[in-house]
Amino acid sequence: MKLPIIAVALVAVLSAPTFAADTDARQLVPMPPEARATMRAEMLDNQLALHQIIGALAEGKYAEAADIAEKELGISAMGKHRKLPSNARPGMFMSDEMHAVGRAGHAAASDFAKVAKTGDMAKALTALQAATGTCVACHRNYRTQ
Ligand code: HEC
Repeated sequence: MKLPIIAVALVAVLSAPTFAADTDARQLVPMPPEARATMRAEMLDNQLALHQIIGALAEGKYAEAADIAEKELGISAMGKHRKLPSNARPGMFMSDEMHAVGRAGHAAASDFAKVAKTGDMAKALTALQAATGTCVACHRNYRTQ
């Protein structure tokens, strides 16, 4: 059986030494330490939410998966840092493009919440992957150090 081109391309991308400093093609987004601390805390919460969503799905608790997604990752989770001083707000230091990835992530999580409520596991997983795709897209394109 021939390996599909896409699989070959994926292997090439994944095995590339993207993390060596001199070959790191990700765009550096300089932020003050306060904004980075906010971002890191939010990211750890994102990871926890994702972990809990997968757990809820595995137990067939669709409504719970949907609630966590909407509350922690979805449109409902936007604007959390509005009241912080501007040097602690990561959004102040993002380009329009980076912002767009972030917004797409919130929208995808809300989409997942809607789909998960229907109790269709295959569609829920597809929608969840659209959301995790935005985590991947941002991390592969941007770095803060
Ligand atoms: C708009 C861009 C963006 C999106 C979308 C995004 N991240 Fe991040 N993430 C970052 C940046 C930038 C950092 C590095 C922050 C720093 O340490 O300065 C980071 C760091 C992290 C870290 C490491 C935290 C640490 O301890 O250093 C985790 C875990 C993480 N993200 C999880 C996620 C998950 C899960 C998602 C999707 C649900 C996600 N992120 C979506 C930009 C993003």
